[in-house]
Amino acid sequence: TPTPTDLSRSALLFLSRQEGLKSAATRLAPLREMASRFIAGEKLEDAVEAVKALNAQGLMASFDHLNEAVRTPEETRDEVREYRRLLARIDAQGVRANVSLKLTQCGLMFDPALALANARTVVAEATARQSFVRVDMEQSEVTQATLDIVGALHAEFGEARVGAVLQSYLRRTEADAKALCARRVRIRLCKGAYLEGPRVAFPDKRDVDANFIRVMRVLLDSGVYHGIATHDERMVDATVEYAARQHLPKGAFEFQMLYGIRRDLQLRLAGEGFPVRIYVPYGRSWYPYFMRRLAERPANLWFVMKNLLKG
Ligand code: FDA
Repeated sequence: TPTPTDLSRSALLFLSRQEGLKSAATRLAPLREMASRFIAGEKLEDAVEAVKALNAQGLMASFDHLNEAVRTPEETRDEVREYRRLLARIDAQGVRANVSLKLTQCGLMFDPALALANARTVVAEATARQSFVRVDMEQSEVTQATLDIVGALHAEFGEARVGAVLQSYLRRTEADAKALCARRVRIRLCKGAYLEGPRVAFPDKRDVDANFIRVMRVLLDSGVYHGIATHDERMVDATVEYAARQHLPKGAFEFQMLYGIRRDLQLRLAGEGFPVRIYVPYGRSWYPYFMRRLAERPANLWFVMKNLLKG
């Protein structure tokens, strides 16, 4: 039986996909203000400033230009232009950061060949600038298509230029992790943030966590440089313990967390000598990203209601 938390999570994830709400929500001042906890700003310059501040605290970053509702080939070209601008800025300013890209931004929902071509342009730019592109993972309808595109780009550009994301809530993920590690593809492991049915995803959070630990061990055993992306201290502790047990040096993998979440833990791990990378989203289309962050934690919802009532 679903708990109240499950219900509010499903409701928020449902709302996150309602196109009609986006433009209204992004105009609401109290919502914008709350979103600023999780989003570095609407402009590239805002995000660069945020990343410089993180770098000064010993944290690395991955920029993400928010825009999931791309519908035309022209819009995908705007996204490619933004990512090239971003990679040029990272290079010019010497900030310690790479980029995270969504294939739906590149046209995956309406033209997979265009999505590959666009992502290829971004990875080629990253290669020219000695940077790295992490291809985010989205809803399960596009898991296979996303892994196929990452696989093609990895074969062309190599492990230091492009990597994948796997979600521990998906039943297929352990098998995917083994297959990608065998090909030396760098993986970001996270729990997964979309609304998925029980056929493809574990409905019980305990199974999602158990799978996270199982897959984390596959990654750490592989000898490839991966990212362990979570704010869950139990997952972090399990990773630290397993790495110590396997006598891995602290730089054998990195922890990754989201901008504005568990800053204390981010700094503590960096202080202990682990590489830590913060995912820094920016852009005008912040609504779906913001709603997924609210869905992760019921307390966030009360925070929103309180602020909306106040505002
Ligand atoms: P969990 O949700 O169990 O939270 C553990 C603790 O973390 C909470 O108790 C709370 O203290 C804190 N916390 C977590 N979320 C919070 C929030 N929103 N607000 C306040 N506190 C919060 N997903 C995906 O499907 N595809 C992707 O490509 C990515 N990429 C990605 C990159 C990075 C760097 C991170 C950290 C996460 C992602 N995710 C993602 C999101 C991921 O799947 C997941 O939804 C969130 O990380 C929340 O899961 P946790 O592992 O933090 O655990």
